[in-house]
Amino acid sequence: MQRFVRAVRSSALAPGSALRVVLDGHEVALFRTADGGTYAIEDRCPHQYAPLSEGQLTGTVVRCRLHGWSLDVRTGRPPVGQWPCVRAYPVRIEQDWVLVGLGPAPDAGGG
Ligand code: FES
Repeated sequence: MQRFVRAVRSSALAPGSALRVVLDGHEVALFRTADGGTYAIEDRCPHQYAPLSEGQLTGTVVRCRLHGWSLDVRTGRPPVGQWPCVRAYPVRIEQDWVLVGLGPAPDAGGG
């Protein structure tokens, strides 16, 4: 079951930007795409663990600043292929707050 927690004010997340937040021990990268979509993924590159919130966002793809691995912020998966990937968290916007769902990871079977 998802438990949604407040992350940041929605108005603090500009189009094309990212923010790092730590929510109940989860390191989360929040992204707002140029078209206004809001997404949350684990803030830890699967290659050598650089923060993805410091990467370059183009469309819905973030490119890690260290060695250039790319992940789709909507899914946490690479634009091509399946692996490696990071956890993608569900997001809601309510009353100018970005809320992030911190339920069990989909792979944990409680999704
Ligand atoms: S740490 Fe991200 S590509 Fe190497």
